[in-house]
Amino acid sequence: MRIGFVGTGVITEAIVTGLLRAEFTIEEIVVSPRSEARSARLAALSPLVRVASDNQDVVSACDVVFLAVRPQIAEEVVRPLSFTPGTIVASLIATIPIPTLRQWIGADVELSRAVPLPFVAELRGVTVVYPASAVLDRIFGELGTVIDCDTVDEFDAFAVAGGLMGAYFGFAETCAQWLNAADVPADKARAYLAPFFHGLAGSAVAAPEKSFEDLRMEHSTAGGLNEQMHERFRREGGLRALTVAMDAVAERIAKARGRA
Ligand SMILES: NC(=O)c1ccc[n+]([C@@H]2O[C@H](COP(=O)([O-])OP(=O)(O)OC[C@H]3O[C@@H](n4cnc5c(N)ncnc54)[C@H](OP(=O)(O)O)[C@@H]3O)[C@@H](O)[C@H]2O)c1
Repeated sequence: MRIGFVGTGVITEAIVTGLLRAEFTIEEIVVSPRSEARSARLAALSPLVRVASDNQDVVSACDVVFLAVRPQIAEEVVRPLSFTPGTIVASLIATIPIPTLRQWIGADVELSRAVPLPFVAELRGVTVVYPASAVLDRIFGELGTVIDCDTVDEFDAFAVAGGLMGAYFGFAETCAQWLNAADVPADKARAYLAPFFHGLAGSAVAAPEKSFEDLRMEHSTAGGLNEQMHERFRREGGLRALTVAMDAVAERIAKARGRA
């Protein structure tokens, strides 16, 4: 399998790093030249990685092509490319729907969208794919787990959830700032909070039979500090603010799909 990337940015680097770490059987990984420093860095990692002469070189050389440029420039990048029918194309480009991509591509390719996350680099990713593709399941399965969506609505809902990364770290940042204001040095606050959140996420992953509500109850002694924290956070509108923010992101995605 020859796997190519049009757009060598943050997410491409994470996927390529993961593929090399997983020792996935690949004939070649071809990355587009931009960003120059990043593509050179990836090529230095392994003889399997080659920097293409241009975007068309990526598309012509590979049987699986990832589109990984930003949405704002996607049309000007994708439209001029000439695809071989039957190529497996995975668009990682946020918000651009399949019918629009098909129009730009203009060839009979096997097209899916996917939302990988940066921790595919550590083989701990969870990647949402629509429509399902056996080849993409294999690739992303090497980099963690895969969730195949049955409908585009399901995929779009997961795209909203995938947008929680900034809010998550914003939450952690606020907790660290609070500790800091309570005279805890920043390095100690970080040393506590990172394993704290990691441990909680690990508990959820280790017990798939338990709902998040089950876990919340289990981690909240009646009348204790955790129960008080959750209840006060809820009463102050913390949970509602999160739902409102998710609705707003969902609306943006729906608009991009021409549904709103
Ligand atoms: N980051 C994530 O966690 C994540 C997760 C899932 C999906 N995505 C999606 O994946 C896409 C890429 O995201 P990213 O975070 O990797 O963005 P990024 O770091 O900004 O990477 C985009 C890359 O595209 C390159 N580029 C610009 N113009 C180009 C052209 N004409 N031809 C080829 N490459 C060109 C840029 O190079 P220069 O630096 O030289 O401009 C840059 O290296 C986005 O659509 C995003 O929505 C990202």
